[in-house]
Amino acid sequence: MNGERFAQITGWGMCVPERVLTNADLAKVMDTTDEWITSRTGIRERRVVSDAKESTVTLAIRAGREALLTAALPPVELDLVIVATATPEYIFPSTACLVQDALGAVNAGAYDLSAGCSGFIYALSAAADAVRSGSADHVLVIGAETLSRITDWTDRNTCVLFGDGAGALIVSVRHERCGILASVLGSDGSGGELLILPAGGSHAPASHETVSAGEHFIKMNGREVFRFATTVMPRAAESVVRKAGWHLDDLKLIIPHQANTRIIESAVKRLSLPPERFFINLERYGNTSSASIPIALCEAIDEGRISSGDKLALVGFGAGLTWAAVAIEWGVPLPARPQPWYRRVFAHVFFFLAGLRSTARRSARRLYHVVAGPVGRPGLSGRIRKAADRLQAWLRR
Ligand SMILES: CC(C)(COP(=O)(O)OP(=O)(O)OC[C@H]1O[C@@H](n2cnc3c(N)ncnc32)[C@H](O)[C@@H]1OP(=O)(O)O)[C@@H](O)C(=O)NCCC(=O)NCCS
Repeated sequence: MNGERFAQITGWGMCVPERVLTNADLAKVMDTTDEWITSRTGIRERRVVSDAKESTVTLAIRAGREALLTAALPPVELDLVIVATATPEYIFPSTACLVQDALGAVNAGAYDLSAGCSGFIYALSAAADAVRSGSADHVLVIGAETLSRITDWTDRNTCVLFGDGAGALIVSVRHERCGILASVLGSDGSGGELLILPAGGSHAPASHETVSAGEHFIKMNGREVFRFATTVMPRAAESVVRKAGWHLDDLKLIIPHQANTRIIESAVKRLSLPPERFFINLERYGNTSSASIPIALCEAIDEGRISSGDKLALVGFGAGLTWAAVAIEWGVPLPARPQPWYRRVFAHVFFFLAGLRSTARRSARRLYHVVAGPVGRPGLSGRIRKAADRLQAWLRR
């Protein structure tokens, strides 16, 4: 063992909503057919959140819990939580902070990352940098989306493409050479308007006009995005492989962003690799943006497509425009050793207590505000004020 630090993937988890929306369901409410969608995209069905109880954060929490369980890592050991998303719970606070709180990751910093469908790879690259540099030992990286909430369900050009879901990985420090060995990040903001959510930001804050013009929904120039994707995907795969010091043929599996089978087939051709080296599951989930690659990785693991020592490339592209790839040498023996039942029970008790802790802190803050009022306002006698302030300071620790 040497002192060099490597960023290893040690845990993984995914979560998709239960509700399935098939092409046939869409064909009942708009001018489209299963044949058109399948032949142009490869998508047969997608998952969508069903009610207000499900959102980006609930999917992210469930995927994050699964990843912690596979890694057998207590949430208090996390140093950082990064959530890549184009559909955050709010503009602020960050979705990552809500996830951190729900998981009881009390020692972790947390932030969201926005890089369109490449977001998860950007986040994974940032996590690997944090681990290799020594600023973090354990990072939870999540890609989570509820694109159904920003989809115009009357626009057949876009609504057939997207779905909801979340996937998560734990990146931990190891001292053997393995894990995330190289990354490539790219962007071209001149293509920003090709895939855009026009309103809701500082450029066009929400107003009656923006809502009635449908500007809070995804707008896309499909043909241009298609052209862009088919160019950057093989290029990003080639350059990350080169950066890792490998040859394309060394790759056991490529996990591409799951947007369209025709885009993936074009990459297969350009890279001259056998099609079976590309993992595809988009027929069941559609394009889940930053969640698509971690969900695909989880399913590739479940299907036994990855073994210890395998060389993998994850490649994404998306709004921004952005593209990104990472090269991974898989270091964890698979299938993963099943967790003893008591460890799962213990973990679920911890998550329950984390929820209680969060509720207690919120309630205490509200109570303090009601009883004591803003600091400096006369009313409470000195001693009670001091006790209340002390309780408030303790809660902030
Ligand atoms: C969107 C996409 C599937 C369209 O496929 P395409 O072969 O380029 O189709 P076209 O744009 O040429 O449209 C062909 C026709 O089908 C129609 N059409 C579009 N959506 C349709 C649908 N759901 N059902 C039936 N017809 C549809 C169009 O209106 C057009 O009709 P017209 O010729 O009468 O105007 C394809 O461009 C694509 O996948 N682009 C990339 C999108 C993507 O991946 N975005 C996310 C990136 S992260």
